[in-house]
Amino acid sequence: MHGMKTILITGATGQIGTELTRALRTKYGGQNVIAAGHRREPDKSLVEQGPFCRIDVTHREALEKAVAERRVDTIFHLASLLSADAEKKPQLAWDVNMGGLFNVLEISRAHGCAVFFPSSIGAFGPLTPQDNTPQDTIQRPNTMYGVTKVSGELLCDYYHQRYGVDTRGVRYPGLISYQTPPTGGTTDYAVHIFYEAIKNRRYECFLAEGTRLDMMYMPDAIKAAIDLMEADSAHLVHRNSFNVTAMSFAPEQLAAAIKQRIPDFVMDYRIDPVRQAIAESWPRYMDDSAARQEWDWQPDYDLDAMVDDMLENLSKRL
Ligand code: SER
Repeated sequence: MHGMKTILITGATGQIGTELTRALRTKYGGQNVIAAGHRREPDKSLVEQGPFCRIDVTHREALEKAVAERRVDTIFHLASLLSADAEKKPQLAWDVNMGGLFNVLEISRAHGCAVFFPSSIGAFGPLTPQDNTPQDTIQRPNTMYGVTKVSGELLCDYYHQRYGVDTRGVRYPGLISYQTPPTGGTTDYAVHIFYEAIKNRRYECFLAEGTRLDMMYMPDAIKAAIDLMEADSAHLVHRNSFNVTAMSFAPEQLAAAIKQRIPDFVMDYRIDPVRQAIAESWPRYMDDSAARQEWDWQPDYDLDAMVDDMLENLSKRL
């Protein structure tokens, strides 16, 4: 087992980062978990419950200084542009997603850090089987986001084989959460819909009816990251990256589940062709049996449990 004592999280102000930071601080102690953010202002709790620093992951020196000074042994490297943003700015996406990861891996090689790297359903493409997508299959993504994710998976495996860096990762489906909204992703509709349903009883969806995608509730995503990093490496056959899945639905199914709880909720469609094309190139649901076998992965939330919890918690916040 890899003992995590001092942890650095890049992208800590993002959708996953805010919640992963909190979970890791609860488990490993606030002072031992350093949150690093860049673009977004950190919320109060991120700054109050432990160290926070502003780091652009494309600046290797700043990143290395934080790792060396604080004797970091594990990096959860979350900083990245999501799929729709990456299509708007492909060159920037390459710089941040690949340059950032390369810096993290080089620093980890020099300082003996373990690395968690989140890949995505976006690492697959139009030639991939979309139903029950196998762990090991064709990966020919046609988006810049996907190119950086599949390259990232390969680079992480390379650093493990070549240099013995303890790299591990999962392929997340679309992630639904109520604490920090996502920015620039294709699956973001499944978060926005809740905000609009509570505030205005109405949502205009940018993906078309029938666009079924793999999805997961944030508590399961956090559990996957921590459990994988705590797993006994002797049991890991795969490393980068494990398919993990929890539920699969199309916009109208999510809308129906919300309508059951908010009867006057109405959804219309105004399709964004860019995000629609991205979504159509991604898996509807992945086969996550490798994760189940190698590190006992199992999700806790299905669609109904997620919708209940989202509406309850987001209503309180809004
Ligand atoms: N949720 C991400 C996106 O939509 C996929 O990894 O870009």
